[in-house]
Amino acid sequence: GPQRKVAILGAAGGIGQPLGLLMKLNPLVSHLALYDIVGTPGVAADISHVNTRAHVSGYAGEEQLGEALKGADVIIIPAGVPRKPGMTRDDLFNINAGIVKALATAIAKYAPHALVNVISNPVNSTVPIAAEVFKKAGTYDPKRLFGVTTLDVIRARTFYASKKNLPVKDVDVPVVGGHAGITILPLFSQATPQVPITQEEIEYLTKRTQDGGTEVVQAKAGKGSATLSMAYAGAHFADACLKGLNGVENVVECSYVESTVTDLPFFSSKVHIGKNGVEKIYDLGPLSDYEQQGLKDLHVELAKSIVKGQTFVHDNP
Ligand code: APR
Repeated sequence: GPQRKVAILGAAGGIGQPLGLLMKLNPLVSHLALYDIVGTPGVAADISHVNTRAHVSGYAGEEQLGEALKGADVIIIPAGVPRKPGMTRDDLFNINAGIVKALATAIAKYAPHALVNVISNPVNSTVPIAAEVFKKAGTYDPKRLFGVTTLDVIRARTFYASKKNLPVKDVDVPVVGGHAGITILPLFSQATPQVPITQEEIEYLTKRTQDGGTEVVQAKAGKGSATLSMAYAGAHFADACLKGLNGVENVVECSYVESTVTDLPFFSSKVHIGKNGVEKIYDLGPLSDYEQQGLKDLHVELAKSIVKGQTFVHDNP
């Protein structure tokens, strides 16, 4: 297959390490660049022993970021800090916002044509942050910037299959909106296969999908948030980007992108990924009354998160 370079920024972290391993297993990858502020020589040496196609190199420290990025086709960003005791949500926002802003600045300089997959939370804000940085740098192409919301889809599929006793490999559930709490809107009215389902079941599944992250945080009891399932989701989405770039037809995934599907400037819905990135964004299709209400309910929070990201870049030039 063609030469494809994937760079992971934050590759030594809880998400970054298993994500690196999964990308090493992807036959479409010829070069895997693992970047972090510390720890990547070890992670890269470890993963490099796996006998698959991708050549692995580790890059540690800011002075090696440019080298890690040069020539990358797909860049995946799970860099960030987890919330520590005593830290407010705003503290966390400011740290991760600053990290994504710095990384986006480097991407604009060294790999302006790459497809960028943002995992760092809060995705509802970090994607608008990257967009603002790219705009300022004059490299912004909305077709190449994606917020990774795939874990919401994966959770909705898993929970739907389990609740309705369906073979999980046959199940799909579109999930639209954003990537936090009530901004996550699974569309069970469009789930496949369609089976009889009660309103009570729909509400249970909707809530479980929206609270999936919290379910993991609670089970990990203070030791972190979702890393393994997030890495799986990130690897699945990056694979879709690689397939799209390689000209595979009908690559469709839900992703948080610049959008005119609603009046919100960024919104997750089904997108067709091709050689230029986003080739088409699909309309939401017919929604149930419950889903229409959910769409109304998420509007204020998602709009605020988007503005918060944009404001961060304007206030921190
Ligand atoms: N550049 C590159 N990597 C960075 C930077 C930076 N400026 N700052 C921090 N990192 C790295 C850390 O060194 C660490 O290896 O990001 C990694 C984050 O790993 P963890 O702390 O284990 O966090 P993780 O659970 O992987 O979550 C990372 O993804 O889902 C989101 O909310 C989550 O925003 C968080 C991010």
